[in-house]
This record gives sequence, C-alpha cells and structure tokens, in this order.
Amino acid sequence: MAIPHPEWLNQALFYEIYPQSFLDTNEDGIGDLPGIIKKLDYIKDLGFNALWINPIFDSPFFDAGYDVRDFYAIAPRYGTMKDLTKLFKEAHKRGMHVLLDLVPGHTSTDCEWFKKSCQPEKNEYSDRYIWTDSVWKGEEDYPTLRGISARNGSVLTNFFSIQPALNYGFYEVHHPEFEEEIRGEGPQKTIQAMVDVITFYLKKGCDGFRVDMAGWLVKRDPEGDGNVKLWKQIFSQFREDYPEAAFISEWNNPLKSLKAGFDCDFLLQDLDSIQASLCRGEHPYFAFDDLDKNANEYFTRFDSLYEFAKKQKRFLSLISGNHDTVRVGKSLNEEELKFYFTFMFTMPSVPFLYYGDEIGMKYLEGLTSVEGGYQRTGSRTPMQWDESEQKGFSSNPNTYIQVNMDESVRPVSVQEKDENSLLSFLKSLLAFKKDHAALDNDASYQRIETKNSSPIVYIRKKGNERLMIALNPSKKIYSISLGKFAGQVLFSYGQNKIKEDKFSLYPRSFIILK
Ligand code: GLC
Ligand code: CA
Repeated sequence: MAIPHPEWLNQALFYEIYPQSFLDTNEDGIGDLPGIIKKLDYIKDLGFNALWINPIFDSPFFDAGYDVRDFYAIAPRYGTMKDLTKLFKEAHKRGMHVLLDLVPGHTSTDCEWFKKSCQPEKNEYSDRYIWTDSVWKGEEDYPTLRGISARNGSVLTNFFSIQPALNYGFYEVHHPEFEEEIRGEGPQKTIQAMVDVITFYLKKGCDGFRVDMAGWLVKRDPEGDGNVKLWKQIFSQFREDYPEAAFISEWNNPLKSLKAGFDCDFLLQDLDSIQASLCRGEHPYFAFDDLDKNANEYFTRFDSLYEFAKKQKRFLSLISGNHDTVRVGKSLNEEELKFYFTFMFTMPSVPFLYYGDEIGMKYLEGLTSVEGGYQRTGSRTPMQWDESEQKGFSSNPNTYIQVNMDESVRPVSVQEKDENSLLSFLKSLLAFKKDHAALDNDASYQRIETKNSSPIVYIRKKGNERLMIALNPSKKIYSISLGKFAGQVLFSYGQNKIKEDKFSLYPRSFIILK
C-alpha cells in the first residue's frame, strides 16, 4: 500500500541550515546545535515551520560532513546527542519539524565499517562496499581506490575519493564475480544497516530526512529503475510505522523519485538545470535587464512534472539555492529577489530557502576551499546577523570560513528595522501564504498562457478560495483579463490598475488578487 504524504507537508515551509555557518555559541568559530536552538524563534517569526539541517554526524569533514564516520554519533563540534534531542523538542514545541540529512550512498574512509571491509579476512563488512578482485573492469568509469589496505583489488567511490560507495548492488550485473544484485546478501545487509540508522533518529524525534544522492545508490542503473526498486524496499520496512516522517530526495528526477516513494524531489539549481534559468547565471528570467525573456521553456518542463507529482499526491520542491549552488544573491538583487521569492512561495511546491537568502547574502568570490567545498565555499560563509565584529556569527575572529564583510548586504538586525527590506518583505509574504489556503503547497495550480508568455500568470485554488498570481519583471506593460476574478488586490508590488474586466500589469510589478 502506498503511504500518503504526511499532512504537515501541505503547509511546510523549509529553511535549510548549514550548521557550521549558522551561529557559534561556544566561541570555537564554528556554528553548532545550541546555535540553531537559539535561533528557532527567529526562523519561526520569519514564517518557516520546518528545517533541513545538513549532516551533523561524526566526520573527518573532508566533504563538510557528507563523509560520515559514525552514523550514531554527533560531531563533537556541533554538540551532543542531547543537544539534538533538545533541538527536536524545542522545534516541536513551536510547531516546527526537523529533517536531518541522510547520506546513504557512502561513508568516510575513516568509518569503522570501511576499516573492517578493508581487512583481507572475510568478515561481516566484507561486502558492505563494492570491491573488485583487481582493477575495476566494468565499462563505466566508476572511480575507485586501490593500494590502501591489505585487501586485494579496488573499491568503488562516489563523489570524492574519501567516500567509498556502500554496496546496494547493480541493476544490471555484468561481472557476477564481484557485482551483486540488489537482493544479494551484501546489498541486503547494507539496506538493513541504513534502515537502522533512519529508525534510530525517527525514534529520537526526528521528522524525516533529506536524502543525499538518493538516485545514485544502485550501480549500473541507466534508467533509475534499480534505485526505484531499492527505495521501495527501504520504505516498506518502516514507513507504515512512521507515517508522519517526510522523505525528500536529492534526485532531480521526480518521475523516478516520487514513484520510489519520496514525498518530494528537489528541482535542483545547477547552472544547466531548468530551475536555474529563472534566478541564476547570466540573464535569468527574474533579473531586471532589458532583454525580452519568457519562461516558456521552464514551464514546459515544470508543468509536466507538476502533473505527474499531483497524480502521485506528492510534491516538487522549489529552492532558493543550497550549500552546493552559487548563491541566488549573486544574480539577483534585493528587489529582484522579491519577485523570485513571490514566485517560489506561491507556486505548487514544498519550498526551501537556504539560510541567508532571506537577506540576499552574496556568493563570496576567491575563497580557498574549506572542507571539500571547492567553488561551493563562497556559498557557505557564516550567517550575517548584525553589525558586530563577525557579523554576530561568532565572537572568535578565526571563523572556519571567513565572514563576508561586504557592506552591500545589510545584516538581519538592520533589515528587521526596515519595512522595505528583503527580510521584511519575505516575512509578510510567508504570513500571507499562511493565511491563504489557496497558497497551501497542495492547493491546485493552473497556469494561464499570456501573449508571448512574458509575464508569469497562474491560478491557485483550495476549498472556496481562488487566487490569481501575476508577475512581470520586465519593463513592458501587459494587460491581462480578469476572467471570473473580482479584481480585489490582496498582495502586490509596484503599480497596478484594474479596469472593468482587465488589469494592467505594470513594468516590474506583481500582484495577487481574488
Ligand atoms: C550531495 C551533497 C553534496 C555532497 C555530495 C556527496 O550532492 O549535497 O554537498 O558533496 O552529495 O555526498
Ligand atoms: Ca561552536
């Protein structure tokens, strides 16, 4: 039986926290769990009711914690297991949900599982990773590690070479000497180990997981069907016992991930992804340059994915960015971001905002890589809270990534006092969304095609409420028919004029009406 998505996702608004850069409470220059607890009221007041926290597990931090050493221990720099359960408790008290980041695809080379797997004598962990008997002979160019242990052969790795791939088997087995099917003994034991990790945290009060590289666990799986099968099996082992837990995949292919049983899939924002065409790169749709742009290509893709997600009773997730992408503040200024946020938070999606995007934090150019960040390091700088020395992030001047001292971005404390700031705008937008069922994540959605599709216009509906949303970041004026709408403006930016059965969408304006 398919599990329906948890109710709370219909209203969920997620705030992503990169824990090492959020708030440092013990002056070691690194953010920590007590820092997150301290800022729960800030996040709630802003209008968010759910968190996704990047990995907080014990790790040597060669990939910012995506190289887990011990799934059952909290990295000491973030705090203790007690801090984590306190965070769950404090969040729940405020009606908020907390997702942790599950990294099921690999571990650190420092993980006990891997050390045991490296031993030449057969043991319980020998098949926890994918070992070949010599060099890797498959036709794919899977990266491997060799020469690191007394065990013969080589072991497959995933993202970095310090991340040996856990063994979930191969969808198409070509080399049965060292490749197993998903139902083989090695993969089945790995699955059990991961189910144990998941249920361990759900029992502690965690509300679910964002799942790292969810679509890349089973190897030689060109269409993704092996990974679908894998997740169906994983979910079948515990989801009925935890129907309120949410699972959100890093897969970027809702046609697979939602079928596999995830509640939401991210529409990721790499520069070549369709989502980025709106807010990233050279001339995104929401940038106020003088180019004639339309979002046709975006909607061709979005609308068909949306239809699919709707049928599955599941969601797409629009994001402002994440710890892997260039900050949205690099391509869009405060004013342009008001447009992008209005879009993101009124479209049918379970939306995610990356910490700092609420003040338009910039990508810090020219940083040396920190903890495997490489070019991503510039998007991971500490949160800019106030005007004090390290912008309120830490009282230690040696912060683990330098604070961006660029004065062009006003910190939280300053933007809070300005009713026209991006932060204040976002707050009123989220409050508006909360007050209108037609903007719930599961409310229906229908796009209105306009002449040459330049402005974006769509209708959302739930119960008796129907709202029309129209956005025009261009410098042209458009006239749009009201249809059956009364023309009562509920939320807007810039100028607008309603006359008889039409309204004028002025340059650089948006409007929500009923
Ligand atoms: C995901 C994470 C990224 C990490 C990689 C390897 O893409 O978002 O930060 O480096 O997986 O785990
Ligand atoms: Ca700290």
